[in-house]
Amino acid sequence: MADITTDVLIIGTGPAGSATAALLASYGLEPLVINRYRWLANTPRAHITNQRTMEVLRDLGRDVEDEAYMFATEQDLMGQNVFCTAVAGEEIGRMQSWGNHPLSRAEHLLSSPGRMNDLPQTYMEPLLFKTACSRGAQSRMSTEYVSHVQDAEGVTTTCLDRLTGKQFTVRSKFLVGADGGNSKVAENAGLSFEGKMGVAGSMNILFECDLSRYVAHRPSVLYWVLQPGADVGGIGMGLVRMVRPWNEWLIVWGYDINHPAPAVDDAFATKVVRDLVGVQDLQPKIKSVSTWTVNNMYATTMSNGRVFCMGDATHRHPPSNGLGSNTSIQDAFNLAWKLAAVIRGQAGMGLLDSYQAERAPVAKQIVTRANKSIEEFGPIFKALGLLDSVDPVKMQENMDARCNDTDEAEKQREAIRQAIAHKVYEFDAHGVEMNQRYKSGAVVTDGQPEPGFAKDAELHYQPTTWPGARLPHVWLFGPEGEKVSSLDLTGHGVFTVLTGIGGDGWVAAAKSLSKEFGLPITVHKIGSRQTWQDFSGDWARAREIRDSGALLVRPDHHVAWRAEAAVADPEGELRRVLKTILDR
Ligand code: FDA
Repeated sequence: MADITTDVLIIGTGPAGSATAALLASYGLEPLVINRYRWLANTPRAHITNQRTMEVLRDLGRDVEDEAYMFATEQDLMGQNVFCTAVAGEEIGRMQSWGNHPLSRAEHLLSSPGRMNDLPQTYMEPLLFKTACSRGAQSRMSTEYVSHVQDAEGVTTTCLDRLTGKQFTVRSKFLVGADGGNSKVAENAGLSFEGKMGVAGSMNILFECDLSRYVAHRPSVLYWVLQPGADVGGIGMGLVRMVRPWNEWLIVWGYDINHPAPAVDDAFATKVVRDLVGVQDLQPKIKSVSTWTVNNMYATTMSNGRVFCMGDATHRHPPSNGLGSNTSIQDAFNLAWKLAAVIRGQAGMGLLDSYQAERAPVAKQIVTRANKSIEEFGPIFKALGLLDSVDPVKMQENMDARCNDTDEAEKQREAIRQAIAHKVYEFDAHGVEMNQRYKSGAVVTDGQPEPGFAKDAELHYQPTTWPGARLPHVWLFGPEGEKVSSLDLTGHGVFTVLTGIGGDGWVAAAKSLSKEFGLPITVHKIGSRQTWQDFSGDWARAREIRDSGALLVRPDHHVAWRAEAAVADPEGELRRVLKTILDR
């Protein structure tokens, strides 16, 4: 007999674990979430928060979304990505990033009701954790996962209470391993991985210092510093990252992984800060220092029976592209509704197979992209002539050569411009953030071919209602003239049917099947004189079906299935689809 029983035990209160707990609690369950430490993230770590993550927070509620924006640094202050010899030194180039280029901003505005922003992990975690606990999740801090065994009905997990030193057991229907890059749950569950840990060495130096005079005229999250040694280890280049504008910062600097991690004391940290800022009498207040390694590893299996892993436990990669915490929260959005449906008896266990089928390709994609982004600093070093010598004097001469009035220097300037412009794949890869299209048993395409991408799929999001894709966002208007996103009509833990004029058959079918399956299904009609008005015609252009057709949308906003138009037996059609998706 276990000491504690719960439906879902979640290991870890990072972005993945706290988001899972918040979502499950919002769906009416009472999960138990544990963390081996006494509190949440103690350093800012992840910060870039993309639109898809903001949609998850919006789904949790406007209070959660509003609080995130309240604490975040807004998008307008994120995007003058600077390449320089030091923050106070010479600027070599700049690129507008994170949706701040006007063309990219237009795409962002058209794609989502959410705005990209910079929300350090020290704010995101408490927000998610508070949401979880205030809505019914149980939590135990200073509590460490030790091991687990599973059987046909559930999982028995042994935990260590670090305050008393005593072990106890938790019996749950499911175990979620959101325990970070050294996941013991993933190891004990026998998940398989590809790639390598520890491919480069990095250090974080968190410090306070007002740098407004050097940065406020070109506001950015990231200031990239080219100095001798900047290409060693690390994340591709020396980085001075804004934590709070403009007086709290995090420096990321590399070290050679073939040597032991350096002892980063205050004196060493202060020297690095002064060198990268480029002011030798600067008086930074060093808040913390830590070393870490760049990893290049992703899980090819993300679950085993009743044990599911997510977040860094399954994708281990450098912070390039800012995908770490975002992908972790999005893993949670994918899994939480499925666990809730199975626990409530609304779906069979087969639904849970779709978690791995849908999220493992994303894990591979983002780990590959983040590591490639590091490599893509290489051409900048090359164009500046920094790879031709290790002598700092010669390196400076090579860099200076770009300012000469010669054909060769003009070619060099063009090469620098191109190399910097190519970094759009790290600093404005909207497609990487938004284009996920799932292929699994929880999606029914009825053989409809996947639409190709008209533009570069890494850079540009392409909306479609092809089953598996996220529902396109457009603004619609309600009875009181209120403006809602098409995404707002869906989600919140339930399935939704969207239809229009001529779709009454779908409305009746959804109501009847909701009773039959014991599954809440929300139905909305969109169109002239319907509840939701499409005055601009944006919905008609985005939906890719006729007025009388239907979209079945999953609780995580992804289209599960679509019908082009009304059919003779809507109930039969919808029943067939729901039975497949829900494994009933
Ligand atoms: P995360 O590691 O955040 O959380 C794991 C949780 O599990 C913690 O609560 C931990 O205490 C708990 N835990 C672990 N083992 C346990 C056990 N045995 N028992 C109980 N609890 C246990 N990303 C980014 O996008 N931009 C960035 O700049 C950075 N920078 C950065 C710097 C450093 C130093 C690190 C280590 C990481 C980053 N990241 C980052 C990555 C980002 O922080 C990361 O992707 C997310 O935090 C992942 O969230 P998870 O919830 O998956 O794991």
